[in-house]
Amino acid sequence: MRIVSGIQPTGNLHLGNYLGAIRNWVGMQDEWTAKGATCLYFLADLHAISMPHEPASLAANTREMVAALVSCGIDPDRSILFNQAQVPAHAELQWLLNGTARMGWLNRMTQWKDKAGKNREGASVALFTYPVLQAADVLLYQATHVPVGEDQKQHLELARDVAQKFNNDFASEDAPVFTLPDPIIPPQAARIMSLRDGSAKMSKSDPSDMSRINLVDDADTIMAKIKKAKTDPEPLPETAEGLEGRPEARNLVGIYATMAGTDVASVLTQFGGQGFGQFKPALGDLLVEKLAPMAARYRELREDQGALDAILRKGAEKARALATPTLDAAYQALGL
Ligand code: ADP
Ligand code: NA
Repeated sequence: MRIVSGIQPTGNLHLGNYLGAIRNWVGMQDEWTAKGATCLYFLADLHAISMPHEPASLAANTREMVAALVSCGIDPDRSILFNQAQVPAHAELQWLLNGTARMGWLNRMTQWKDKAGKNREGASVALFTYPVLQAADVLLYQATHVPVGEDQKQHLELARDVAQKFNNDFASEDAPVFTLPDPIIPPQAARIMSLRDGSAKMSKSDPSDMSRINLVDDADTIMAKIKKAKTDPEPLPETAEGLEGRPEARNLVGIYATMAGTDVASVLTQFGGQGFGQFKPALGDLLVEKLAPMAARYRELREDQGALDAILRKGAEKARALATPTLDAAYQALGL
């Protein structure tokens, strides 16, 4: 069993990124490696150039993301952690698969339609062929399972179509070049809202630093931000229904539940009837307890360029070794 999953490199990581994305990766690693599967996790830096981008921030974000992943629990000895750009087989296989993918298939992709918008003529060719690179990302490793959110289902379908057509056109039935990967639905990701506005997502693009808990924040900063977090004057309700129409309260209770590994109902059993004067310090303490060790490791690692480069270099070596036989087989099948 092989699990392959990619993530866009992003910098200035915050609690939303951790609870909404990174934590799920760590959970998948722990669950799947225990079953004997190999997990390949890559930073999708080749994908990042399909949209306008700044080279310096892309390089920095790739390293920051690796620092965050490792400090939050991705173990580079158990998982293969790498960036696409250091494994040229991704780009090579994409080109080979461009011969199999059909214009009509790509034209139907809703992400292409959404992202290109009305300006199709001005969109990059990379944005159009992005799903073929995604197909290469997973087919290259004979992935058996690929975690996909709702918005990526169509792209995994395309990867399967490309694999099937390639196998049909260029391989014998008893020796297919590619494995058709099955989707796995990742656990429902938490959606964390801003601490200043319960209707906005917690985001690095929010100009107010008080709106988010950054993974680099120290204990005092976390406590201060939670203390200042927007709330309403009512005490916490006894049941989840009582959180309706109270987005800030719902967000803070949700964060507590997720960090404590429990559910909203249990948190309200404990804190229902109490005011935020009591709940906020408890939430702050919990966040500090859970985040502090990761934050310390993250701060240390993001300053250690040498260590980060070494992690990516070793990951890329392992990935290249797994990719080479499939890439060779694809070239050969095509008569190249
Ligand atoms: P930001 O919104 O801060 O720019 P990104 O768009 O770079 O974050 O997101 C990186 C990853 O983190 C994505 O998988 C995204 O779904 C997740 N993520 C970002 N913000 C949140 C949030 N507030 N709650 C849950 N997940 C989030
Ligand atoms: Na964003």
